[in-house]
Amino acid sequence: MTGNSKDMRLGKGEKTFSTSIDLPKKERQEIIGVLNQHLADTIDLYSMTKHAHWNVKGPGFYQLHELFDGIADRVEEYVDTIAERVTALGGYAMGTVRIASRVSTLEEYPLDATDGLEHVKALASRFSHYGKKVRGDIYRASEMGDMDTADLFTEISRGIDKDLWFLEAHLQGSEGK
Ligand SMILES: [Fe+2]
Repeated sequence: MTGNSKDMRLGKGEKTFSTSIDLPKKERQEIIGVLNQHLADTIDLYSMTKHAHWNVKGPGFYQLHELFDGIADRVEEYVDTIAERVTALGGYAMGTVRIASRVSTLEEYPLDATDGLEHVKALASRFSHYGKKVRGDIYRASEMGDMDTADLFTEISRGIDKDLWFLEAHLQGSEGK
């Protein structure tokens, strides 16, 4: 791999190390590309959640400050889980902030958000996008014969769904009556 950006596109002939794992190289390279894309999105989502944790203001400050920190802790675990699945498959985990910044599919965070509900809405929208992408790749990973990565994506999407509920519960108070 050279250092130029073209050669570092994710999912294009991923660098792999020799391994005796019983998954074919072609499938491993493809799933490594998928995992590295999720790694970039997850690092981005983590930094956005911490940004909200640090900057939220208003009457609900303390509980949102704590909630966002708890969610960020869970997202940080996904970062490690995804990166280590890449390396278990013989891949090279593309885990720097600069790579995440370049390839993340998440919409930029609204840097003028201040009060609690602005941050809740901004995070909910990005967790929804992220959860949809991860869920979409459960089947893709299983089709490639990698049920372990499919399981990993299933676990993450279930956790994201729960944290999306924790966020959206703040927006649903006047609905359903
Ligand atoms: Fe903190």
